[in-house]
Amino acid sequence: MSISYEKYLEATDYLKSVISQNDLPEIAIICGSGLGGLADGLTGNVTTIHYSQIPGFVQSTVAGHAGELVFGEISGKKVVCMKGRFHCYEGYGVYQATFPVRVFKLLGVKTMIVTNAAGGLNPKYSVGDIMMLSDHLSLPGISGKNALIGPNIEEFGVRFVPVSDVYTPRLRELFAECYLKNKKISEDRKLNLHEGVYGWVMGPSYETRVECRALLSLGCDSVGMSTVPEAIVAKHCGLEVLAVSLITNEAVLSPEISSIEIAKAKLEGRTIERKVENFANHIEVMEVANKRAIDLQELVVDFIGSL
Ligand code: ADE
Repeated sequence: MSISYEKYLEATDYLKSVISQNDLPEIAIICGSGLGGLADGLTGNVTTIHYSQIPGFVQSTVAGHAGELVFGEISGKKVVCMKGRFHCYEGYGVYQATFPVRVFKLLGVKTMIVTNAAGGLNPKYSVGDIMMLSDHLSLPGISGKNALIGPNIEEFGVRFVPVSDVYTPRLRELFAECYLKNKKISEDRKLNLHEGVYGWVMGPSYETRVECRALLSLGCDSVGMSTVPEAIVAKHCGLEVLAVSLITNEAVLSPEISSIEIAKAKLEGRTIERKVENFANHIEVMEVANKRAIDLQELVVDFIGSL
């Protein structure tokens, strides 16, 4: 399955019939779980359009993800916020999940900012830290779920697109500068910034212990269920991309204690306790995202101002 160029044009034409030429965005922001607050603070001519009104858009089915495009301004720049994104684990194909990105391109967007909630694999990361993506490992992508599979649409880009610099270095440097300058966030509120590699998994189940260890040993610093398909499609059509993860939980890396050892100990009158681990869960992910959302959003506002 794939989507024809005409379908992207249809969605774009619809949006252009609602948004005046003057308010067309140059920046698109895809808001991750619990991070949709940016869209609520837009200024200028704010227009909200529900996904169900836009031809070709599917629905966001995840708690914590609204389903709206919000057009307006941040720091004097015209933006569109995607409040609620589509994930492949919802049953959508990569074409459907990435449909909005090409519509953004056709609207005139040049820069795409993506936020997400992610599990921390790097032992140096703590819950509540943020990580700019320098790279990603797409296990689904290299094994058949690449968002560009299907007939290439030449109007968007070339068949074989290099993605070594999918997360634009210039934008990462700018974001890091904004972070370092904003002492209120970096020092007073103790937000730690990292730059690292994001491992994309399809979900919706979180990872097993050995999957976490495997991802870590393959070079991943964080793990999550989004962002990569959108980033690849954005790169294909020439958008610059900044992606930032909020670390909402620590992935459990330790192997399980041996059940054989526990049984042996029991027979010998000894007790070996299983360690109580804090496994990833959606409630915790949303709580941390909600707590840190303001800090990350403030940095994104600074960053947009600096573009
Ligand atoms: N989102 C937040 N935490 C996650 C995790 N551990 N794995 C995948 N996606 C996540």
